[in-house]
Amino acid sequence: MKNSGAVIFDLDGIVVDTTGLQFLAWRKIANDFGFDFSKDQNEGLKGLSREDCLKQILAWGNIKLSVKDFHKWMDIKNSYYLNYIYEMDASAILPGTLELMDVLQEENIPFALGSASKSGKIVLKQLGIYSRFDAVVDGNDVKNGKPDPEIFLLAANRLGFAPSACVVFEDAVAGVQAANRAGMISIGVGNKGLQKEADFTFNNLTEVTREFLQNFLLFQS
Ligand code: G6P
Ligand code: MG
Repeated sequence: MKNSGAVIFDLDGIVVDTTGLQFLAWRKIANDFGFDFSKDQNEGLKGLSREDCLKQILAWGNIKLSVKDFHKWMDIKNSYYLNYIYEMDASAILPGTLELMDVLQEENIPFALGSASKSGKIVLKQLGIYSRFDAVVDGNDVKNGKPDPEIFLLAANRLGFAPSACVVFEDAVAGVQAANRAGMISIGVGNKGLQKEADFTFNNLTEVTREFLQNFLLFQS
């Protein structure tokens, strides 16, 4: 029996507990420029590309940079972030992620990564789960970050499924908007603010049952 759909996972805040590390790295950049920003402000950075995050932070600090310096600061942010990442192990995988992947594999439902982070592949390898994904799309593979649908459309294409057959798990407003624009089913996780935009919401992936997935993905005869 052929499965009827596929799943796309965002990375930071869905597969792995890295949202705090991204926040710390970006905050260090702001601190290097002599200002700070709050966790609430950080919500608006979630899901955006590295370039768009830096643009937003510079706007908060009212700082203008040359193109050369802009690239230099993106590299500095990445070195801060990678220092955290290389300390991380599989205990950073979020509750419910591996169990959900097990269910999908049992039911022969392919799944992909669809992340804006240019460190997406590095993070999956660090966690030892890269090879579990049928396709991996990260920030190196696309021109446009979320909320543009390019990341998710490329992931669907690599999986060989129509966008309308794909279910996306996302923790960021920009990510839910990208899934919606791609014409996919959007599932918001861990953030009550997503209720307005996502098709469905859960507190975390442990709440996502086989029966729920069956509505979209499984056992089509
Ligand atoms: C994702 C995360 C953001 C992060 C961005 C860029 O969108 O949600 O928190 O800032 O990726 O990540 P990168 O690892 O490429 O700098
Ligand atoms: Mg995320």
